[in-house]
Amino acid sequence: MAGNWKMYKTAAQTTAFFEQFRPLVEKSDQCDIVICPPFVNVPAAVGAAQGSRIEVGGQDLYWAKEGAFTGEVSAPMLVAAGCQWVIIGHSERRQYFGETDETVYQKTVAALEAGLHPIVCLGERLEEREAGKTEPVILTQLRGGLGKLEAAQVERITIAYEPVWAIGTGKTATPEMAADVHRYIRSMVARQYGFGPAGKLRILYGGSVKPDNVKGLMAQNEIDGALVGGASLDANSFASLVNF
Ligand code: PGA
Repeated sequence: MAGNWKMYKTAAQTTAFFEQFRPLVEKSDQCDIVICPPFVNVPAAVGAAQGSRIEVGGQDLYWAKEGAFTGEVSAPMLVAAGCQWVIIGHSERRQYFGETDETVYQKTVAALEAGLHPIVCLGERLEEREAGKTEPVILTQLRGGLGKLEAAQVERITIAYEPVWAIGTGKTATPEMAADVHRYIRSMVARQYGFGPAGKLRILYGGSVKPDNVKGLMAQNEIDGALVGGASLDANSFASLVNF
């Protein structure tokens, strides 16, 4: 269960969240728990998570290890700051910041080399779904972003299927709609890499996951977890997702 905080919360609000959240998930052991705050609040989150099962991730990275790339953060920097995870290719990055399948691939390789667990996001836009193009769009993103990885690398990634029309809109894909796409993603990975790597791949659903719809989604065998935006900002609501 991964929380994507996007551009929300200060360092003080991060610490306050963890104080409230930690006791609520202390006894839970059914899933990994990941919080991805804005870069500047990674140290606050790592400090506040110490001694718990909660892990911290970045929301993006740049593929070079260091260099003259103003504003960017590298995989080794995230690791040094205490991150174990990183989100790559979120639809907001694709939509507003020029992320492409090629940059997603380069970032995924950099994350894996540094020992991070990449959460690679894919998803179709509303007009693509309405035109019946969900599968070709997903396949292009999958092949372009991950298709050049080795099988041993594919086993180490997590994919997040996030239909763009469901993100932050309150419109969730039905559990069956999400499961259909998850099944399709796994079958395409199996076709390229075989059933071993495809079976180990974790596929999260993202897009308006909330305490009142999490059970239905997680009841689908194909859905291994969730990438959560809005509902991860509040300690009680994210804890009820973790303890679904
Ligand atoms: P949401 O965001 O849960 O607020 O829809 C999900 C995401 O963008 O990862």
